[in-house]
Amino acid sequence: MKVIEVAKGNEKEVTTLIFNTVVPRPIAWITTISACGVVNLAPFSFYNAVTTRPPLIFVSIGKRKDGKEKDTARNIIETGEFVVNVATKPFLEKIVKTGESLPPEESEVEKFNIETAPALKVKPPIVKGVPAALECKLRETINLGDTPMTVVIGEVVAIHYTEEITGSSKGIIGRLGGKRYAVINDEIEII
Ligand SMILES: Cc1cc2nc3c(=O)[nH]c(=O)nc-3n(C[C@H](O)[C@H](O)[C@H](O)COP(=O)(O)O)c2cc1C
Repeated sequence: MKVIEVAKGNEKEVTTLIFNTVVPRPIAWITTISACGVVNLAPFSFYNAVTTRPPLIFVSIGKRKDGKEKDTARNIIETGEFVVNVATKPFLEKIVKTGESLPPEESEVEKFNIETAPALKVKPPIVKGVPAALECKLRETINLGDTPMTVVIGEVVAIHYTEEITGSSKGIIGRLGGKRYAVINDEIEII
């Protein structure tokens, strides 16, 4: 096995190794609404749970190539609300498409014909057909790293879920290195 010392390695190599070693990463497919009312949808895999009481989650959002804030981060900061839709295999192609950068006035939901339904406690809608969705209110943002990344901490205020999700995670996808994805189809229960 090889080893690199981060301070002496090159940045690209370190980035590639982080993307390929911290796997599989869950995917938050996030709906937000801009101050002008445009529904935005985009995937984020630097995402996970932080605490359960209260239920807090984080998502780490980088900048666009031109250095500007991504629509998701800007909308969350401006409106204080977002919904994390749980990503599953039937949605994979649409998830990847919504990862393309669109101008703020263009909605991914309309462009890619993605059906939504109203949420309970927040304005951004949930994606119809996902097995679960977490309605979140912004708790705080932290700027970290050289880019810097905007780390959003959200408090979950409502949870939509199917009965099956508490017994099986089959079909849920995760992000791997490069453009690869994992699909959960083999679960082992150890009692
Ligand atoms: C599966 C997947 C995971 C992604 N994860 C992240 C992430 O964790 N952080 C990030 O800044 N961008 C991530 N991206 C890229 C964003 O989705 C992309 O920049 C998108 O255009 C942002 O859209 P927005 O400007 O509408 O917010 C990911 C893309 C894909 C396809």
